[in-house]
Amino acid sequence: MKTHTLLMPLDMHLHLRDGVMLETVAPLSSYSFSGALVMPNLVPPVITLEAVVAYKHRINHAIGKLDDPDEEALMADDCFEPYMSLFYQNYTRAFLSTVKDEIVAIKLYPAGITTNSEGGVKSFDLDAMRPTLEAMSDLGIVLSVHGETDGFVMDREAEFMSIYEMLAVNFPKLKIVMEHITTKAAVEMLERYENLFATITAHHLLITLDDVAGGMLRPHLFCKPIAKRPEDREALLHVALEAHPKVMFGSDSAPHPQHKKEACGCAAGVFTAPIALQLLCELFDKHGKLENLQAFISDNAQNIYGLCPEFKEVVLSNRPFLVPEKYGDVIPMFAGEHIGWTIESVN
Ligand code: NCD
Ligand code: ZN
Repeated sequence: MKTHTLLMPLDMHLHLRDGVMLETVAPLSSYSFSGALVMPNLVPPVITLEAVVAYKHRINHAIGKLDDPDEEALMADDCFEPYMSLFYQNYTRAFLSTVKDEIVAIKLYPAGITTNSEGGVKSFDLDAMRPTLEAMSDLGIVLSVHGETDGFVMDREAEFMSIYEMLAVNFPKLKIVMEHITTKAAVEMLERYENLFATITAHHLLITLDDVAGGMLRPHLFCKPIAKRPEDREALLHVALEAHPKVMFGSDSAPHPQHKKEACGCAAGVFTAPIALQLLCELFDKHGKLENLQAFISDNAQNIYGLCPEFKEVVLSNRPFLVPEKYGDVIPMFAGEHIGWTIESVN
């Protein structure tokens, strides 16, 4: 049996939702990850300091880590840091100064492009956005971007490259993360602009559009951005397996209740949080690149975001793991199937 140890795994793009769903999914991430960048696309979106603080408190409560010092006696021995984000709007510098210690990023969604993004950006009017982006740049707040246009679904990400280019050139000191990249075009952008970085999901390293819709339609693999062509997946695999210093793992684990996925009008999102580390070990091992997984899963993100996560050690082995059919009301990727690696212990 082969084992592999990962230190302080980070998930730099995670949907934790709220309410009952939060209670179901948050412990699944806090078990094996040291921290995660939590997406702000709640209903309504997270746009105020009060909302950020309250959401963080609800997350800490859901993972058994209570952030009120008076409640310290009840605190579980669970070290997981929810790195918070705000939903992009044009904000004032004064507001951003007050919120900057509570967040690490602001997430920009083009309006209506994905789940709960209706309040996103309608047009990329640089003059209107400049004060916000300049203030973010000065305050060291990362701009995290869902980079898709409203064009033809397979071309949306590639079409968005000119917007990334415009942002990168106009705000050279602003760190911009191209979230959940799915194309060769996005991979190529990493070399072109110093201030562009990227997250890559586990599912986009594993599947193409064929897996989603090439045979029977598989709703649990349907997400935004949609999985693309084999050559796109190859380009993603290349930078992930090499642990290119500008790429980091972001699961984009996006839980929806079963009835919203197995429906006429399937919600976008693949739920991978509880199996992400196992899938990545299996994938990196298959390619003889296990030694690079530490950088992809944590070190690169620590460098890019300037994070110092608390110690956590996850030991995995290549013993097969049977993925549960369901977690609460959510069907995970590979539900009911065996995957190659198992989490043996977390310390
Ligand atoms: C995400 C969600 O459900 O919140 N869905 C998805 O398909 N990835 C939103 C997003 O990141 O696009
Ligand atoms: Zn997402």
